[in-house]
Amino acid sequence: MQWGMKNRLSRIFDPVSKKTVMLAVDHGYFQGPTTGLRDLGKAVAPLLPYADSLMITRGALRNWISPEMNKPIVLRVSGGQSILKELSNEVLTTSIQEAIRLNASAVTCSIYVGGEFEKESLANLAKLVDLGEEYGITVLAVTAVGKEMERDARYLGLASRIAVELGAHMVKTYYCKDFEQIVEACGNVPVLIAGGKKIDEKDALLMARNAVDAGAKGVDMGRNVFQSDNPAGMIKAVRAVVHDKAAVEQAYQVYKEGKK
Ligand code: R5P
Repeated sequence: MQWGMKNRLSRIFDPVSKKTVMLAVDHGYFQGPTTGLRDLGKAVAPLLPYADSLMITRGALRNWISPEMNKPIVLRVSGGQSILKELSNEVLTTSIQEAIRLNASAVTCSIYVGGEFEKESLANLAKLVDLGEEYGITVLAVTAVGKEMERDARYLGLASRIAVELGAHMVKTYYCKDFEQIVEACGNVPVLIAGGKKIDEKDALLMARNAVDAGAKGVDMGRNVFQSDNPAGMIKAVRAVVHDKAAVEQAYQVYKEGKK
């Protein structure tokens, strides 16, 4: 990996724990005004100090985030579909030059393995990796699998490994049973977990704990943070799990403490 690329990647991961708590707020790119993100600026401001990086689209960045903030940006550069239509039908929406102008530390797009537009989404990733290599920007592949497929180690492992083979520098997938098999199949490429739909805080912390124990290099979490009744407490609790090796009960106390 070239120097610039390594340098950008190192901004995303904590220098001590070598892991990351990425705050995902890119949901609007296909979901529109997602619960908890209607006023994205207001939602993100109290969380940003506890995030190692921010996953976001260029429009949201320009509208709601101050250019003076100093967290690394993981720029969502795919889209073109909505929840009203076929989700796998994505294109690349933002140029690599624009990513550079916005000072992105990484760019990201989704792949839909088993989805109707599987090939197109894989081609998007391959193209983005080529651009990333040319300009020294790392690429995070977000894995999704077809609607009928279980989110299990078989299918998420398939999608994650394909992302690695296409050259992704980081992979985001979902936690599942036998997660360590996915991590193993991704070799040296860091694997992060998405949080998925909002679940009970303790369950989300357990999921993060299990994922890190199975080799995940952190989380790229959105709804389980910003839709929590205590978002700042929740991101602090997630940090405790990811960076401080906290047990679930310990981390849960961190979340509850902030609620008082
Ligand atoms: C999904 O399309 C987006 O990439 C989200 O950033 C990702 O799913 C992580 O957010 P959440 O933890 O809410 O699933």
